[in-house]
Amino acid sequence: MNTTFKTMNPADKYRPYPQIDLPNRQWPNQVLTKAPIWLSTDLRDGNQSLIDPMGIDQKLKMFELLVKIGYKEIEIGFPSASQIEFDFVRKLIDENRIPADVTIQALTQARTDLINRTVESLVGAKNAIVHVYNATSPLFREVVYNKSRSETVQIAVKGIADIKAAIKSHGDCGTNWRLEYSPETFSMTELDFAKEICEAVMVEWGASEQKKVILNLPTTIEVATPNVFADQVEWMHTHLANRAAAIISVHPHNDRGTGTACAELAILAGADRVEGCLFGNGERTGNVCLVNLAINLWSQGIHPQVDYSNIAQVIRISEECTQLPVGARHPWAGELVFTAFSGSHQDAIKKGLTRQKDREAAANGATTMWEVPYLPIDPADLGRSYEAVIRVNAQSGKGGMAYLLERDHGLTLPRLFQVEVARAVQVFADESGKELSSEQIHTIFCGEFLARTAPIRYIDHTISHQGGVETLSATIEVNGATKTVQGTGNGPLSAFVHALNKELGSQFSVAHYSEHDIHSDTSGEDAQAACYVQIAHADHPPAYGVGIDANIVTASLIAVVSAINRNSATA
Ligand code: KIV
Ligand code: ZN
Repeated sequence: MNTTFKTMNPADKYRPYPQIDLPNRQWPNQVLTKAPIWLSTDLRDGNQSLIDPMGIDQKLKMFELLVKIGYKEIEIGFPSASQIEFDFVRKLIDENRIPADVTIQALTQARTDLINRTVESLVGAKNAIVHVYNATSPLFREVVYNKSRSETVQIAVKGIADIKAAIKSHGDCGTNWRLEYSPETFSMTELDFAKEICEAVMVEWGASEQKKVILNLPTTIEVATPNVFADQVEWMHTHLANRAAAIISVHPHNDRGTGTACAELAILAGADRVEGCLFGNGERTGNVCLVNLAINLWSQGIHPQVDYSNIAQVIRISEECTQLPVGARHPWAGELVFTAFSGSHQDAIKKGLTRQKDREAAANGATTMWEVPYLPIDPADLGRSYEAVIRVNAQSGKGGMAYLLERDHGLTLPRLFQVEVARAVQVFADESGKELSSEQIHTIFCGEFLARTAPIRYIDHTISHQGGVETLSATIEVNGATKTVQGTGNGPLSAFVHALNKELGSQFSVAHYSEHDIHSDTSGEDAQAACYVQIAHADHPPAYGVGIDANIVTASLIAVVSAINRNSATA
């Protein structure tokens, strides 16, 4: 057994990330009002973290998906890293596969040879961003590169000069060149140094309001709570010289599981742009999830400017390209995220969906505010059906199975009866320990309440009226023997119960009765009715039976037989 947690004091090994001195911080009072500029780095940061990086065909598929979703800035690779990466960039450009309103971006380290190769790969694209980075945090400066602050600034500035020279060497190739600079490990860099290096880069590039530099501030490693990152971003946003000549971008990773919070708070703190990947793919715990961020905005009534109305397709293509599954509980996208198993949740959802439908009908087709308990957005917005919303297992009460019987079989069970059906379903759920499908629930329902034909089986009946009294004559089978029974009453139901009581020597009575048409989409020719009858008896607990038939009287007689059969079974 690992006893480290018991015996060790974590404070001997780890220290909290220092707070930022920002007494007048403004971000807590801000609200999100619009989508940021998005950059997808699925084909770069996402790709470089895959067990098997994408080949050209997969990259193409992913690129086309990103374009279809609506991303306008897409980091397509690290062209100096491998021939495949270089060839992919060239393929997109040479085969005119980049829509005119889409800007491609390529990453390079701040080294002359790598920069030259990167610029070469991008030549001829309509819009291209050269993305250069170097590590800036003290840990990296000291441990990995053994460089002072000023040497680190020189690397960045030299990188920018190299990019300018490389671009110049290709003359007028029709490319609108832009620059992105990332102080890698920004989240662990002293703020005054991050400012110093970013400003030096901007000066070297000749940044202006017309020629903005993208300053990308990564939580290369997430080391603090999201409020600390928001402080860091706000500090940069408010202290940077020539802020108007910069687009502040953030690039959250997810080491602490708070990548989404970091991105959202960073926007409140002044960030204009967010880099991330579909479903949070990326190094280690991944980059921030672009799907999560976009649909979070959608759920607040803010258009994300990207389209996730066919989330199933996005999941399918992404899984195909990355070979990584989207988790069942992944925000907004996972298989189970709109599903309720718990009975009380199901009950609330069922009521909420019914009310929502009524409000929509009353609004005559106008869009209605979405207000359904446990469903923060309408699954239909993402192209998902309501099929998966309610699923039944041993944790589910009556609401779930009642909803499924109504939705899939048009059976609206009386409330009291739901308890009885739930009990029958629960026995199976407990036995199997597994989820029950809608079909399984229907089979249990039919077996327990509908198809009870022993000891009595209904065969046929005739009715005659005289002076307000109904006489019902029915052919039934009792323990396999066919019999004709006759009874009187103020209606067919009471006449039939009277006839059965005479035959069986019993004293059954009808405690509850209800009926409804079973809605069908057809012309109504084979429309059916469902009857629910609860039969009481002094010696047995009351029991429900169900009858379904095109003839409502026949349905009610079958329901009586079914209830008496169940009642006898419990005696
Ligand atoms: O996470 C990171 O710091 C990066 C940079 C290259 C932007 O991916
Ligand atoms: Zn990254």
